[in-house]
Amino acid sequence: MSRIVQYSRYGGPEVLEIVEVDEPHAGPGEVRVSVRAAGLNPFDSKVRQSPAMLPNRTLPSGQGAEFAGVIDEVGAGTATATATLAVGDEVLGWSNFSAQADFVIVPADQVAPKPSALSWAAAGGLGLVGNTAERSTRAVALTPGETVLVSAAAGGVGLFAAQLALADGAIVIGTASEANHDYLRGLGVIPVAYGPGLIDRLRAVAPSGIDAVIDNAGQETVEIAIELGVDPKRINSIVYFDGVAKYGISTVGGGGKKSADLARLARLVADGSIALPIAGTYPLAEVRAAYQQLDSRHFLGKIVLTLP
Ligand SMILES: NC(=O)c1ccc[n+]([C@@H]2O[C@H](COP(=O)([O-])OP(=O)(O)OC[C@H]3O[C@@H](n4cnc5c(N)ncnc54)[C@H](OP(=O)(O)O)[C@@H]3O)[C@@H](O)[C@H]2O)c1
Repeated sequence: MSRIVQYSRYGGPEVLEIVEVDEPHAGPGEVRVSVRAAGLNPFDSKVRQSPAMLPNRTLPSGQGAEFAGVIDEVGAGTATATATLAVGDEVLGWSNFSAQADFVIVPADQVAPKPSALSWAAAGGLGLVGNTAERSTRAVALTPGETVLVSAAAGGVGLFAAQLALADGAIVIGTASEANHDYLRGLGVIPVAYGPGLIDRLRAVAPSGIDAVIDNAGQETVEIAIELGVDPKRINSIVYFDGVAKYGISTVGGGGKKSADLARLARLVADGSIALPIAGTYPLAEVRAAYQQLDSRHFLGKIVLTLP
């Protein structure tokens, strides 16, 4: 049998259940991964809370978009398609509404090798945020010496994006709660508290202006950036989609995932180029508590389910 996280009605963490199902098996072109860690993302909560997010889905639904684990089955024909994959390989990967389970089945090109120096928790939590952060950072095309504002810089996407922007040679200002300021300062980010008075604090830390914005928080950041005179073409939001019609900003988010890109992002975390702190780990059985922490919206890094 295999345990899966599942919900049969829309709602908060209370609708989540651990359900025992028959063990799934890898079909042609697929691998089965025995999951060791599976990350949580706000998207999971958003689609679970209301059918409005993805109207054509049917329930019950599994949950989870990113995982790390050990390949324990290779489907017929898969070995020839991807000669490098074998039972026993440690991998990380992505899936749709299914990663939070003892076993996940995915096409063989949805996994990448897990560097041995990468913890299971970090490997299980970087698939979605790494891809999103890289695409949103590239969307604002930073050049060395430019000043960029990254909102929600202590969150999963924001932390990743802030460090990619630093690697591009940018001066990075990050919004976060006071509790996370020392950590961000340690990375080289200039931390600023979000909320009332943000625009004045930004003027104080960036008297010569802000060149670009990587927004992971929403409307407040975008409207302040517009008021500060940032070119809308250099503002990218992964949350405030109305900003496209209203201000002409861009909204490049996650997508177009490729195994080779995931492998490269995993190496950046494994070699310490990108720090991905783990804010909490929970056993699968405590998935409701894990999402209660996620839904609190205030923590540093990633929350991950870990499996034996
Ligand atoms: N469009 C896409 O493709 C895409 C992809 C991934 C994520 N997203 C969305 O992007 C957002 C960020 O994702 P994530 O995974 O990084 O989320 P996350 O890790 O859950 O974000 C948590 C962080 O948000 C910060 N935060 C909370 N309220 C804030 C505010 N008003 N202003 C600034 N920061 C605030 C918190 O900072 P403190 O602890 O310092 O308070 C916390 O560190 C979510 O809404 C998610 O759904 C979109």
